[in-house]
Amino acid sequence: METRKRKAEHIDISLRKDVQARQVETGFEDVHFVHKALPEIDKQELDLSTAVFGHTFSAPLIVGAITGGTQKAAKINSTIAEAVEELGLGMGVGSQRAAIEDKRLEKTFAIARKKAPTAFIIANVGGVQLVNGFGAREVKKAIEMIEADAIAIHLNSLQEAVQPEGQTNFKGILKKINELAIELDKPIIAKETGAGIAAEEAKRLESAGARGIDISGAGGTSFAAVEYYRTKNKGSSFQSALGDVFWDWGIPSAASLVEVLQTVRIPVIASGGIRSGVEIAKAFALGTSLTSLSCPVLQTAVKSVEETADMLSLLIEELRTSMFLIGADSVQKLKEAPLVITGETAEWLEMRGFAVKTYAQRGRSNSL
Ligand SMILES: Cc1cc2nc3c(=O)[nH]c(=O)nc-3n(C[C@H](O)[C@H](O)[C@H](O)COP(=O)(O)O)c2cc1C
Repeated sequence: METRKRKAEHIDISLRKDVQARQVETGFEDVHFVHKALPEIDKQELDLSTAVFGHTFSAPLIVGAITGGTQKAAKINSTIAEAVEELGLGMGVGSQRAAIEDKRLEKTFAIARKKAPTAFIIANVGGVQLVNGFGAREVKKAIEMIEADAIAIHLNSLQEAVQPEGQTNFKGILKKINELAIELDKPIIAKETGAGIAAEEAKRLESAGARGIDISGAGGTSFAAVEYYRTKNKGSSFQSALGDVFWDWGIPSAASLVEVLQTVRIPVIASGGIRSGVEIAKAFALGTSLTSLSCPVLQTAVKSVEETADMLSLLIEELRTSMFLIGADSVQKLKEAPLVITGETAEWLEMRGFAVKTYAQRGRSNSL
């Protein structure tokens, strides 16, 4: 009951208040394409499809984990599912903890598979739940509930730390992920929720058996902001002050993405503040396998399937246009496109010892 109420408040606050990062930016504004005046391709003939986790997506985009558990959440999951099924994309459901504990809530998640029989659907359980009693049995239940293609284990230390009822014992999570990876036949995707993943953690997650990493970096939705409003509404100034200070905490998405991509071999999902098809294209050119966005989809999902599908279609058209302007006729070709990384993102990556110049020099020697 408590979990359901909290989740409903997260949705209401995310819809009513501005819970986007205030000062930290994703860093995608520091990543620049080199415009090609001679693209030598036809914009109408571009291939946006991509294959990852054994599934073919019509475009490299999924809707990130948001919700489940309540009537309103069921409607949101249903709407997103219909839109992604129509467009050949994928989606994640929100944390399934409440439904694992109370069977009556299963249908608020299962609706996603019902409305999206062929889409790639990702189940979701909190990493901290694995420390607090969940094991393979519970995680398998989450997967079966929605006939999931993969399971996201979300890592949300920032949120747990600033929320009054947060579970803050994260000791032994990696070992639990490792045990699960051995038991499960579906891929585990280790997923942050807006604070990013560093290279060191990515390496450990890969070694523990994660088959994908969703970096979900800073610069988009801030869970500290959501908790700020939630605690403020309840009159807890001590707790809301904590949310306020940590509002912009985290590794900006573009920096996190490059760190992880230069460190692991498993597929990486770029998320956290992705708001346009140009950013999707940039993430792809950096080497990501899929991109994901959540909060903007929540805003349309409470309206209609049509508005949700229109919004996702616009992102895909922006991606297509970016590809055309840099002469990439497939998403694979995008990965060879030259990129110039400037500003704070370049500084961050250089300080942390990651190669930046190689992106800018792609294809130069043969074409000049
Ligand atoms: C209302 C709301 C609820 C969320 N619930 C979950 C969740 O249950 N599990 C999870 O892994 N991520 C959850 N997230 C995090 C998103 O999946 C995503 O990582 C984050 O919002 C950053 O992406 P964005 O900037 O595109 O919104 C939630 C996000 C929002 C806005």
